[in-house]
Amino acid sequence: MTPAPKDVAEKLLAMELPRRWLHVQGVGRRAASIALLFDDPHERWLLKSSAVLHDIGYSPMIASTELHALDGAIYLRDIGFPQRLCALVAHHSCAQFEAELRGLAEDLSCWQDERTPVRDALWWADMTTTPDGKVTDVHARIHEIEERYGDEDVVTVFIRRARRELVAAVERTEERLRMAGLSHLAK
Ligand SMILES: [Fe+2]
Repeated sequence: MTPAPKDVAEKLLAMELPRRWLHVQGVGRRAASIALLFDDPHERWLLKSSAVLHDIGYSPMIASTELHALDGAIYLRDIGFPQRLCALVAHHSCAQFEAELRGLAEDLSCWQDERTPVRDALWWADMTTTPDGKVTDVHARIHEIEERYGDEDVVTVFIRRARRELVAAVERTEERLRMAGLSHLAK
């Protein structure tokens, strides 16, 4: 049996990267707040679990490539988490673009980006949560990343290329919430 997702994230991030742990807990709350959008309990579990696990690849305990999304997915696969959860982590928030910039696209390609409402909801949760775990909007979030890393950094190049896809995933999720009469959950 696999351990509880939140326990895995806490073990890897809480001591080593406390700010990242705050962010991850915020993303987890954000994902849980809109989980009602999904009727299927497994979809809800996938969304909430991938939210708390999406950034574990930053942990120095498991980081091995320069791509945290890939390192997180490899670790989760190795400890027995389901393929679909690993793929959501591998491809979260447009990681494909960063993989291409870092020459790691082939490594990432063993997982598929499922391009589903659950995947969009995970991206929405990540892109509307600050590094300290507070609620923000996607435009402020992208701006903060650009400022934090600076013009020259590959992360800034990546986030600028990914902007359109990230905003689209956020907007699709907010439209789904509107259609379901659940917009109030996203505040
Ligand atoms: Fe994140």
